Amino acid sequence: MEATFKTLLGYFCIANVVVNAFHPFSTIYSYFHESCDSTWVQFNAAGLQADLKSQLFGQHLASRIILKAVTGFMNNNNPQKPLVLSLHGWTGTGKNLASKLIANNIYKKGMDSSFVHLFVPGLNFPKEIQVEKYKSQLQHWIRGNVTACAHSMFIFDEMDKMHPGLIDSIKPFVDYYEKLDGVSYRKAMFIFLSNAGGESITQTTLDFWKSGKDREELELEDVEIALSLSVFNNKNSGLWHATLINKNLVDFFVPFLPLEYRHVIQCAMAEMKARGLSPDPDVAYKLALGISYGPEYDRFFSIPGCKMIASRLNFFIEAITIPPDSKPSVFRIRFNSPGKKG
Ligand SMILES: Nc1ncnc2c1ncn2[C@@H]1O[C@H](COP(=O)(O)OP(=O)(O)OP(=O)(O)O)[C@@H](O)[C@H]1O
Ligand SMILES: [Mg+2]
Repeated sequence: MEATFKTLLGYFCIANVVVNAFHPFSTIYSYFHESCDSTWVQFNAAGLQADLKSQLFGQHLASRIILKAVTGFMNNNNPQKPLVLSLHGWTGTGKNLASKLIANNIYKKGMDSSFVHLFVPGLNFPKEIQVEKYKSQLQHWIRGNVTACAHSMFIFDEMDKMHPGLIDSIKPFVDYYEKLDGVSYRKAMFIFLSNAGGESITQTTLDFWKSGKDREELELEDVEIALSLSVFNNKNSGLWHATLINKNLVDFFVPFLPLEYRHVIQCAMAEMKARGLSPDPDVAYKLALGISYGPEYDRFFSIPGCKMIASRLNFFIEAITIPPDSKPSVFRIRFNSPGKKG
């Protein structure tokens, strides 16, 4: 008996030595190779707050809801269900940008993390005829990835273009199940992006402005009812409300307000800075003037949001000869009207 115990102790000691000998290597390995641990996956609430404030312009409601929802969820060690956010709004108002900011403050590699999965229907599920195949692929993908990392993030872009069958196939994962086939999905995050409800958000924002109130005074309650009604009644989104919204599986509807001229200017200034140029307000004003505004009579909101800013900026920038040792700020900015050459 004593001999057996000694033998076991011997094995244990050897095993310990072996593990300790390799430990530094496993630490080095996990330092370079992304893994599902706190080195690579760690929520930074202050970082998210700062990024939303400094990078997402004109979206006080969305910023507030996102910060609260994500912070509450990430700080809860035992969530009841995965976090489901549904981001709505007119084109170019920052829905993808907001998803990126969330990812940047959870995953060290941000959107490049292998735990962040972005689906675009036209790209990933292009053929309606193959929907059954996509369904099983998508389910396998979600199951496999959540098994590998509980804190996985799934972003579904253009949700209003997703086939209803595919949306149905996501439903079990976002529901209140303890486990499905031995896998818990409760720490995963699902973000749905769509333009559904964009018109109603715009109308509410416009009415608010017409009544002489400050945009920043707009509260979620002001937008929520009109938004949910319009999402329910929209023929494109009508199919997915039945499965996800009706069952209360969406935790937060996040409205993205239409952007005004002043926000477009902020976007232009930020874009110049991001390119290493010194931001020039004159260029920003001219750029913002060059895009179209709506709705028809009021012309108060940017039709493309901030979407065309990056490409339009190219028309305003002329790269002059850069001395080899100079910084990118030697780029000279010229006032060319968009579309004109030279
Ligand atoms: N509110 C914003 N603040 C700062 N930049 C913004 C904002 N909205 C859009 N942008 C910029 O405009 C471009 C397009 O934004 P984004 O892709 O996030 O729009 P979207 O809401 O997803 O639009 P769509 O509905 O057409 O997909 C990006 O370069 C983004 O950085
Ligand atoms: Mg988008």
